[in-house]
Amino acid sequence: MKFFVDTGNITDITRLHALGIIDGVTTNPSLMAKETRDSREILREICDIVQGPVSGEVVATDLDGMLREGRELRRISEHIVVKVPFTQAGVQACKTLTEEGTRVNVTLVFSAAQALIAAKVGAYFVSPFVGRLDDIGHDGMDLIEDIVEIYDNYEFTTQVLVASTRGPLHIVQAAKLGADICTCPPAVIEALFKHPLTDLGLEKFLKDWEKAQQK
Ligand code: E4P
Repeated sequence: MKFFVDTGNITDITRLHALGIIDGVTTNPSLMAKETRDSREILREICDIVQGPVSGEVVATDLDGMLREGRELRRISEHIVVKVPFTQAGVQACKTLTEEGTRVNVTLVFSAAQALIAAKVGAYFVSPFVGRLDDIGHDGMDLIEDIVEIYDNYEFTTQVLVASTRGPLHIVQAAKLGADICTCPPAVIEALFKHPLTDLGLEKFLKDWEKAQQK
């Protein structure tokens, strides 16, 4: 399973990329709004760092605007994947941009029916938001299970990009279900490394070693 970082912050991306486990980056307008520099410059820099898929999202809501922004985003780097929201215009934009050879990430997906439509128009990634479903009392992972099953049934090549992850359990559950990718906020990536028994175990190893040196 691939790990993407869900942020537009260059400092976080640089630090996490150095760990050697980051395959790509996802951004969205809310994340880019937190950064102070020009968003295209930031996306270009992210592409140079990760050398893997970097999702940049359109903010237009009409088809022509989405196509215009999508084509501009695509010109930034070969690594850019154009992210469009799941709306009728977004689905049409996905079809056209895909036909032009641009990879598209269909985002804000909350149902299996939406994921099926995204696959039918050739989405490269589909982004179901598990955390936001959990927040309203639905099990986000049920959606991942449904999408993986449907895509397997028809051999769709659209990759399931589990989004809106809130903690390590989401990542482990997604991996058990065979999802292709999880995109995680930096804090979730950090949390994947932590286990109190690892810390305690290392502390004991080092203490024992030190004691033995003093003999
Ligand atoms: C997906 O690509 C989105 O950027 C993201 O995962 C949304 O997560 P949130 O629900 O934590 O905002």
